[in-house]
Amino acid sequence: MKIVVIGQGYVGLPLAITAARCGYDVVGYDTDVRKIDSLKAKKSFIEDITDSDLVEAIDTLNYAPSSDCDELEDFDFAIITVPTPLKDSLPDLTYVQNATELVGKYLKKDATVVLESTTYPGTTTDFVVPILESTSRLSAKSDFYVGFSPERIDPGNKQFNFKNTPKIVSGINQESLERIERFYASIVDTTFAVSTPNEAELAKLIENTFRHVNVALINELAIYANLLGINVWESIDAAKTKPFGFMPFYPGPGVGGHCLPIDPSYLSYQVKLKVGETFKFIELANELNHTMPSYVVKRVILGLNKRKKALNGSKVLAIGVSYKPNTSDTRESPAIAVINQLAGLGAEIEVVDPLVKQNNNLSCCNFVDLTEEAIGSSDIVLILSPHDVIDLNLISKHGSYIFDLRRVIYGDNVEHL
Ligand SMILES: NC(=O)c1ccc[n+]([C@@H]2O[C@H](COP(=O)([O-])OP(=O)(O)OC[C@H]3O[C@@H](n4cnc5c(N)ncnc54)[C@H](O)[C@@H]3O)[C@@H](O)[C@H]2O)c1
Repeated sequence: MKIVVIGQGYVGLPLAITAARCGYDVVGYDTDVRKIDSLKAKKSFIEDITDSDLVEAIDTLNYAPSSDCDELEDFDFAIITVPTPLKDSLPDLTYVQNATELVGKYLKKDATVVLESTTYPGTTTDFVVPILESTSRLSAKSDFYVGFSPERIDPGNKQFNFKNTPKIVSGINQESLERIERFYASIVDTTFAVSTPNEAELAKLIENTFRHVNVALINELAIYANLLGINVWESIDAAKTKPFGFMPFYPGPGVGGHCLPIDPSYLSYQVKLKVGETFKFIELANELNHTMPSYVVKRVILGLNKRKKALNGSKVLAIGVSYKPNTSDTRESPAIAVINQLAGLGAEIEVVDPLVKQNNNLSCCNFVDLTEEAIGSSDIVLILSPHDVIDLNLISKHGSYIFDLRRVIYGDNVEHL
């Protein structure tokens, strides 16, 4: 069976490699020629896939990365994993549209199309199906199969990966659902079927909105706990000893990546459009999480002030610029917002990030190696995204003032968010 995966990013690449490992012929198609060249050279750009995974997939399995759309010819299964960003704060389905038009061009009778990109309910049925029908001149009622299966991958997570995370599956009709469930059941450990793509699309948005709202809640709580002189981290540790009805969330510099800052807005957009109401929880969570970088900057200013130093001219060593530890993904990273705000107020900033190394949005600072000298000469070490490879002992030993936003270091020289 020939599978084509449209988009070879954080979602599409692990999916394509897993399908190849399960014996399928897989074309990993992407319009980004640099990514495809890198994959062909067996150089991965994603932490969850190693170079040797690519060597295995290309040399001994049937995985073929390609930017040639003719490679889609004769596919049995097309899976769309392209970005779903916001444009002017509104959902932008341009990538999904382009990918669907391309798939429609190569769609043949009895083939199946699955959308995995996170999006608002109704996209598969009201947006993807009409495009497929008009570009292929086939009918979704009788000629081909369509469904939605949200991706839940958590890049950098060592316990849960594509294979052992249950996969929600759906189809626009029973035949579509059966085919889609059969396919995913052959590549992941567990599937969970829902009645229509709408429920599957909403399920993904519930997951991300739940996290977004709870992160905002704990961030706001952290601000007030600090003002009340209470250690919020210790309180969370205590609260989580309750074995039911509580799930811990931790404060941080804000939310980033391709999910939390974006996906809930897909849901609030649709509620506004279809029901005419404001989804208040989402709006509030957006606002609270968005202001966290400014709060972090305020705390840095206060911390330096306590040490009789001004932020202007102070040397800041920023540790980690990705949106969370153990990934190189810097999309919407709050760490970048914090660093740019500090630089705008006159701080001299050096950045340590062995996973990122350079970033176009950080022209204000130099990337340096983590050395005793770099740590010892800074007025403040700011722990933003502490990857496992970062030597925290070295920081703890040589930092005079460490502001740790993730509570990974303890000591008299350390302040937590
Ligand atoms: N990154 C995550 O952790 C994650 C987790 C779950 C779901 N998602 C969702 O999955 C989708 C993809 O996210 P991602 O992180 O993999 O994005 P990504 O940017 O890493 O990868 C998407 C890829 O699609 C390619 N692309 C764009 N238009 C294309 C087209 N017309 N044809 C072929 N390729 C095209 C891009 O070049 C890119 O390489 C989004 O909807 C996202 O919300 C992401």
